[in-house]
Formats: sequence, structure tokens, C-alpha cells
Amino acid sequence: MPVDYNERIPNNVALTENPRLQRALESWRPNYLRWWNDQGPEGAQDFDVYLRTAISVESDGWAHFGYVKMPDYRWGIFLAPPQAERTISFGDHLGEPAWQEVPGEYRSSLRRLIVTQGDTEPASVEQQRQLGSTCPSLYDLRNLFQINVEEGRHLWAMVYLLHAYFGRDGREEAEMMLERHSGDQDKPRILGAFNEKTPHWLAYFMFTYFTDRDGKYQLASLAESSFDPLARTCQFMLTEEAHHMFVGETGIMRIVQRTCELMNELKTDAPERIRTAGAIDLPTLQRFINFHYSVSIDLFGQERSTNAANYFTTGLKGRYRETRISDDHRLVDTTWPVYVPKDDVIVCEEQPALLAINERLRDDYITDSQRGLDRWNKTIQQHGIDYRLTLPHRGFYRQIGAFAAVCVSPEGDIVSKEVWADHVSDWLPTESDHEFVTALMQPVTAPGAMATWIAQPPRGINGQPTDFPYVRFLSN
Ligand SMILES: [Fe+2]
Ligand SMILES: [Fe+2]
Repeated sequence: MPVDYNERIPNNVALTENPRLQRALESWRPNYLRWWNDQGPEGAQDFDVYLRTAISVESDGWAHFGYVKMPDYRWGIFLAPPQAERTISFGDHLGEPAWQEVPGEYRSSLRRLIVTQGDTEPASVEQQRQLGSTCPSLYDLRNLFQINVEEGRHLWAMVYLLHAYFGRDGREEAEMMLERHSGDQDKPRILGAFNEKTPHWLAYFMFTYFTDRDGKYQLASLAESSFDPLARTCQFMLTEEAHHMFVGETGIMRIVQRTCELMNELKTDAPERIRTAGAIDLPTLQRFINFHYSVSIDLFGQERSTNAANYFTTGLKGRYRETRISDDHRLVDTTWPVYVPKDDVIVCEEQPALLAINERLRDDYITDSQRGLDRWNKTIQQHGIDYRLTLPHRGFYRQIGAFAAVCVSPEGDIVSKEVWADHVSDWLPTESDHEFVTALMQPVTAPGAMATWIAQPPRGINGQPTDFPYVRFLSN
């Protein structure tokens, strides 16, 4: 199914053949645009931004690059191509044909999964809306806006499913997506991490590395869903999501690089001297890693979860790369190792694999997260500096699950409240860390110029040079 670009809502789902659905989505569109103007990137709606737009779902050449004002971005509905005669790959319905319609008995569970995923997409746009005014470079500003418009498109992806398959309830849920707001007292976003602030660019790079990666794992397990339209929607979202994590990984890499260069130039590892020179010292980076990592692994939920077990058994949500796993895909008699606190120590227990679905996904996430740290550490090492960034223990600073009740050090020791209080300012970003980082964030908007605290990117976007004017301000 080719992408129809002549329509008001670009799509590859043959919207014109379903006038009712088309009308419903077209009537949601002005509300979406109003939300974008109110809650999207602040003060940036008139900028010309060098954006990529999806024009096909093929793996090569799916993106077109050009200057666009963000409110004119072609937010569309794109599903990955259908797989002929796809069958269900896990759970009680293993081997049956994948569903093209929502089975009545799973309607509310599926709707809830879609709403929970969908809610995170506009939430992150809201969290990031003020960052534009302190961008470290035009390159970074453009990447921020690219992520923002794509999170907007991910909302479209989920709203399409709600409108197309969930009738009136779905349309109501779609409206509510625009009514909840990140951090709102009365109508907050559904998940905790999406009500946190993203107050500066360091938090933003950490968010795109750690929290967008949670998104990757959630989308990947929904991409295994027996409900085929959901699976195909999520498959294409993953293609876009990869760029968001790239922004996070390379962003932190460039910060690390700049800091290391300064450490060698000044022949010092004293955080204060690095800060005075206008960069972010490595121990501060470590505290931010500790915070964003622990908030993000909370998003995987409880270690033991009957909800997750039900989603799996009923075929709604699979495991990461379900079809590549070699086991019975039902998990009736198997176990999975789960870390839990027990009598002042952390032990690893074999638990029923079905109940440990969340934990297994968290394990996959942790392995994946470590890869970026290895690359950052390699850069530190290449500069001849004796320092290693680490992921804290999975029990550290958790708000959800078995570890929420205990204090755990980054090394994985259960500690008393007193010890926690004595060390928390070494382990988590402090007020003064935030103040320092915030003060560092001065806008840099000349093409090719970079803020003091971050290195040049090794290459530009879409083969353009790094000093390309990725964003054009009309007033200039
Ligand atoms: Fe997204
Ligand atoms: Fe994302």
C-alpha cells in the first residue's frame, strides 16, 4: 500500500476508502493542531526547520528532508507492510491467524495498552517544549524539533488505532490524549516519568537515551502483538524511534568528549575547575545517569505482574523479539531469574517466567543501555582518563516494585535511611547540580557554533555539513 500524500492526512491505510473514519480523524486534526500550538515547541512555530518526513514505509528511502514550519509538518498514518498470513507467535492463541479486528473479550485490555503507549508520545513533546530557547547548536535544535514532530506522529499512530478499531470509546480516548498534560495537577499524563520536567539539555539527552529506549522496548513488544494493526503500527514507529536514541547516545558522547578534552587541556579532574571552564564534570554526568536510568527502569513495572502475564497469555503483548526466542512461547512451566530484596540483601530468585515478563523486558533493556556506557567509557579511556561511568544497580532509587520499599546504593547494597541521606547528594543530581547545568545553558544559534559544554557532532544530518543552517529563524 503506497503512501497517499495528496490527502490532508497522509496515510498508507487507504483512508479514502473509509470515509467515516477519514471524517472522524479529520475532525480530530484541528484539536491536535491546537494542542501542538499550545503545548508544542515554545516560540518555534514560525521557524523553518530542516526536517525529515516519512514518505514510504520501505526500509530504504522512507524519509524526505527539507525545510518545513512545524505546524505544516505532514503528520500521517503509516503502518509497516503486512506480512502475508501472519500467525500469532505466543500465548494461548499460538499458531492461529493474527487478528485483523479486535476480539471482543480483549477490547478493554488492548485499548488500555494503546492509550498508555499513546499518552507518552505527546507527554514528551510537552516535557521538552521550552528547550528550544537554550539550544547548544542549530544541529541540536533541529534534532529536538525532529523528535518532537515524530512523537506527534506517534500520537497520530495510536489515535488512528483508537478511531479505527474502538468506536466511540476510542474517539473519547483520542480526545483525552490532548487534555491530559505533563505535570498537570488535575489531569497529569498516565506514567510517572512523563510528568517529570525535562528542565535542560543534559536532562533531555539523558531522557532520549534512557526513556526513549524504554519506548523502544515497549513498542518492540507491542510489535509482536496478535492484533496485527497494532503490530504493524509499532514496527514503523520503531524506525523513527531509533533516531531519538541516537540523539541521546551521541549527545551524551559529545558532552563526555568535551569534558575529557578540557580535563586534558587543564590537566585536572577537579569538578569545580571543569565547571568553571564551562563544561559538565564526569561525576555530575554519573549522577544524571543514575537518576534517568532508575526512573526509566521503573517504567517496566512490577517484577511480578499478573497483568503482564495476562497480556502475554492472551497474545496482546509479546516479549522483545518474540519470534527469535527459541522456547515454547507459552511459558507455562518455565522460570526466570528475578532480583529482589530479602532480609537486607538482594537475592536472585527463580520465578514463574509468565509472572516475570516485565522483568525479562527490563533485563533486555539493561543490556541494551549498557552498550552506550561502554562507548562513552571508551571515549574516556581514549583520552587517557581513569574514570568509568556505570549503570547503578537495578534496585537503586526505585519507586515501583519490590525495591521501592528499600534504600539501595548504586553498587547494589541495601543501606539504612541514614546512610542513604548521607550519600544521596553523591548519587543523585542535587539542586545545585541543576542550577549549575541550567546556568550553563546559553543559546547558541550561529550555524556550526557549539556551546562550551558539548563537542561538535562528527557529521551533519542527511549528508549536510555540520555548519548547515538546520533551523532558520524568520526574524534573522
Ligand atoms: Fe515515540
Ligand atoms: Fe521517541
